Amino acid sequence: MHKELALIGCGNMGSAIVKGIVGAGLIDACDIVVSDVSEAASSRLAGELGCAGTCDNVEAVRDAAMVIIAVKPQYLDDVVRGLADTVAPDALVVSIAAGVTLARLEGLLGSERKIVRVMPNLPAMVLAGMSSLTPNAQVSAEECARVQELFESFGRAEVVPEHLIDAVIAASGSSPAYVCVFIEALADAAVAEGMPRAQAYTFAEQAVLGTAKYLLETGVHPAVLKDMVSSPAGTTIEAVSALESGGFRAAVIDAARAAAAKNRAM
Ligand SMILES: NC(=O)c1ccc[n+]([C@@H]2O[C@H](COP(=O)([O-])OP(=O)(O)OC[C@H]3O[C@@H](n4cnc5c(N)ncnc54)[C@H](OP(=O)(O)O)[C@@H]3O)[C@@H](O)[C@H]2O)c1
Repeated sequence: MHKELALIGCGNMGSAIVKGIVGAGLIDACDIVVSDVSEAASSRLAGELGCAGTCDNVEAVRDAAMVIIAVKPQYLDDVVRGLADTVAPDALVVSIAAGVTLARLEGLLGSERKIVRVMPNLPAMVLAGMSSLTPNAQVSAEECARVQELFESFGRAEVVPEHLIDAVIAASGSSPAYVCVFIEALADAAVAEGMPRAQAYTFAEQAVLGTAKYLLETGVHPAVLKDMVSSPAGTTIEAVSALESGGFRAAVIDAARAAAAKNRAM
């Protein structure tokens, strides 16, 4: 039976991806099959979406126009090898496995296959993800645009050459963790000033969300917004000055580049 999409791996990211796609009405649930090694996981997601669910990866990908592989990198080779003979020759295969290159995917599937390497991030789970897309040479511009449309159903998505995936890791793949460190520190400061802990997180989280939303929606440069809110002899410039004295900017650059370097070495 022909299907538009087969998902392999119904964990955090796989679930977020298909929920975004179905929620945006880009693919009908009845054209999707989801598969997981755990019957409970595939049945739960299939039940939520109203699509077919299975534990049989091979049956899931049979006659599927697109296959999204969302298992942990350590399982990827075995999973892909198990599917390679069944995936239709003209199917689009999308892998979101961190650190797994197009060359490695082509080695497993065959270099004549259409493959897109995607690097999403965790906010995909709340429809605010940032994904990079890197197609191999067999993927047409229209096919790449279709994958981009699907990944934009739960956030933003941009095509990047493969050598920039380390930069993607630095800026969006790993950055939710360091943004959380910043939010925690802001909340700690508010608690030190007497605010209850739960309220401190709300103020800090909404401030970070709102600032990013403002920049994305207006296109204003971050330095311009920083200047706009820093009044002469005011409170904000005191904070900015303390951040610079503490080496905040350099620490963030070093942290993000450490993530990129680690990804390169993996
Ligand atoms: N989470 C992120 O922020 C993030 C960001 C970018 C990229 N990624 C990539 O996304 C992929 C999935 O990550 P995740 O966080 O969603 O992991 P996850 O929550 O562990 O989901 C993976 C799912 O695949 C299942 N699975 C394991 N072996 C399988 C097999 N042979 N066949 C079918 N299903 C199988 C797992 O079942 P069990 O739990 O029973 O093993 C689990 O339900 C990874 O490759 C990761 O590198 C994740």
